[in-house]
Amino acid sequence: MRQESALAEFHDLAPAEESFRDAVLAGLTRRAKSIPCRFLYDERGSALFEEICELPEYYLTRTEMAILRDYAPEMAASAGRHAQLIEFGSGASLKVRLLLAALEAPSAYVAIDISREPLRRAADEVAADFPQVPVVAVCADYLEPLRLPPLPERGEGRRVGFFPGSTIGNFTPEDAVAFLAGCRRVVGRGGALLIGVDLKKDKAVLDAAYNDRAGVTAAFNLNLLERINRELDGDFDLDRFEHVAFYNEAAGRIEIYIRSRADQIVTVANRSIRFAAGEHIHTEDSCKYSIAEFQRLAARGGFRPGRCWTDRRRLFSVHLLESA
Ligand code: TRP
Repeated sequence: MRQESALAEFHDLAPAEESFRDAVLAGLTRRAKSIPCRFLYDERGSALFEEICELPEYYLTRTEMAILRDYAPEMAASAGRHAQLIEFGSGASLKVRLLLAALEAPSAYVAIDISREPLRRAADEVAADFPQVPVVAVCADYLEPLRLPPLPERGEGRRVGFFPGSTIGNFTPEDAVAFLAGCRRVVGRGGALLIGVDLKKDKAVLDAAYNDRAGVTAAFNLNLLERINRELDGDFDLDRFEHVAFYNEAAGRIEIYIRSRADQIVTVANRSIRFAAGEHIHTEDSCKYSIAEFQRLAARGGFRPGRCWTDRRRLFSVHLLESA
């Protein structure tokens, strides 16, 4: 019998390395200051985010995991036999394991991520734990148009995208539609997308999820300033800035900022940057969608809404979208 090598196939599409310096200087010299949220996830930021996922107030991760655990057999049946499962931003590949365990003879698991070494490690671990599933790791920026390598096939399986974590909520609705249209191109005609979306709910529950009592979310947000101090020779005084997050009900989104507690001048990469007392740096939005709202968004991205699974408290949703 052939011995499975139990290692992932690896493809490096050489994603462009974005300059942290250029992004920070551009973001801090705009009238309304902002820094893109992807820069929150350096090594320390990623560790703090993992801590956030364990917090009592941050219901998102554990609720989505529970939905995947409870309904993986139904999701797998909807995906069909021999599916090629394609994950956009696979990270540690933890959630996908629940699906891989339920799918019937999947043709492939394709993990796409921009962080080369963590991707390689996670993909090899999945390959070792699921020796019957061909694992293909693709180092790429999933926000850019993507050409996948030829994928292993087994009979008539279809392509099913996977995008958990309500990361779709961190896009503006317009960018979310563009991203969905990109997924639609990747999965092709007859393909589908399984996507996690945080639901609209009581403001107090949402506010608490982004303002935990232990202060981990504040530390995560403010780590951005520490990262600037470390990597760009900045002199942010962390005591003179604070974390701010609140649910904007009219806009249907959590808005996250860093607020200056005083009039002050900060130096970053030899540039002086002035802050007025109360001035904000916008670091992230997290849009929340009702099921019907998200279905309308999906339609604009070229998908027909299919089944939708939620938890008993209706905190979180996982949608199956079908290529329109
Ligand atoms: N994608 C996560 C979310 O929208 C990220 C997140 C959680 C986050 N807490 C944060 C981002 C605090 C910035 C600050 O829930």
